[in-house]
Amino acid sequence: MIQTVGVIGAGQMGQGIAQVLACASIDVRLVDLSPQALEKALITTSSSVSKLQEKGKLGTGIDPLAFIKTSTDMQLLAECDLVIEAVTEDEMTKRKIFESLNQVCRSDALLASNTSSISIGRLAAIIDRPERMIGVHFMNPVPLMPLIEVIEAKQTSAETVALIQQLAERIEKTAVVVKDRPAFVLNRILLPTINEAIRVVEEGTATAEQVDQIMTLGAGFPMGPLALADMIGLDTCLSILDLMFVELKDSRYLPAPLLREQVVAGRLGKKSGEGFYQHA
Ligand code: CAA
Repeated sequence: MIQTVGVIGAGQMGQGIAQVLACASIDVRLVDLSPQALEKALITTSSSVSKLQEKGKLGTGIDPLAFIKTSTDMQLLAECDLVIEAVTEDEMTKRKIFESLNQVCRSDALLASNTSSISIGRLAAIIDRPERMIGVHFMNPVPLMPLIEVIEAKQTSAETVALIQQLAERIEKTAVVVKDRPAFVLNRILLPTINEAIRVVEEGTATAEQVDQIMTLGAGFPMGPLALADMIGLDTCLSILDLMFVELKDSRYLPAPLLREQVVAGRLGKKSGEGFYQHA
């Protein structure tokens, strides 16, 4: 059984993953190069947990911070049963991390990536025991979204999949196991929708607010595609579309020029304070 889980990357996704694990009384080792990011992750965890407890969505008898140890040093991950990588959506960065984890972690540890699009099989090829590599794609905001899209590469063993399914149950998420194809299932379907919404704004058919109003009121989306793009991060949306366009060789996935312009201008959505909307 998985007892101790390492998380690399204390950004939006890594913080959320650490939080849901800690809320299930699982020991978490959270590692990031930046001490400020680690500090911010603990503050976010504390406020998110308080909010969920106030709303009665989480029991009050638990202090998740007691289950989270942080460090800027990867050696903290040496004894983990599972390490989940949740850094920026850049294959070179992820490759370097898995090369290091291959040295630092126990040889029987499971290694997982929270990538939203990059081939798990290519990442598995980096490590000595590729059968222990798997994709665990959590959704944003992690504490509220019940799904984990689990990605089984050709190399992934049935035992690795079963251990991740058991972990998902313990943290009260539903694991749906899919094959390793570019952008998997969720983003293969979601990103073209977001891209199309951006094109509608770009061509002047409607404003961002109008697009979102139409899709929430008219199609029952919980939030509009442009508000969602801001929440995901426009840089992440662009990386996923770029990868899909290159790997699936289909013009349907060509990123809208306005998306690239926003990213080049540093308007990345919620994380930078501005995207299709202004964020406080
Ligand atoms: N912890 C605690 N509370 C949080 C939170 C968090 N991490 N994130 C947001 N909240 C809170 C907000 O602060 C807000 O609280 P208040 O009501 O007190 O202001 C509340 O949640 C939002 O409440 P709402 O009434 O507006 O909405 P809701 O509770 O009914 O649903 C939602 C919120 C679950 C985010 C819903 O809008 C939703 O499902 N949105 C779509 C999200 C989605 O599609 N996620 C997947 C993105 S794709 C992805 O992540 C994968 C990828 O690779 C890109």
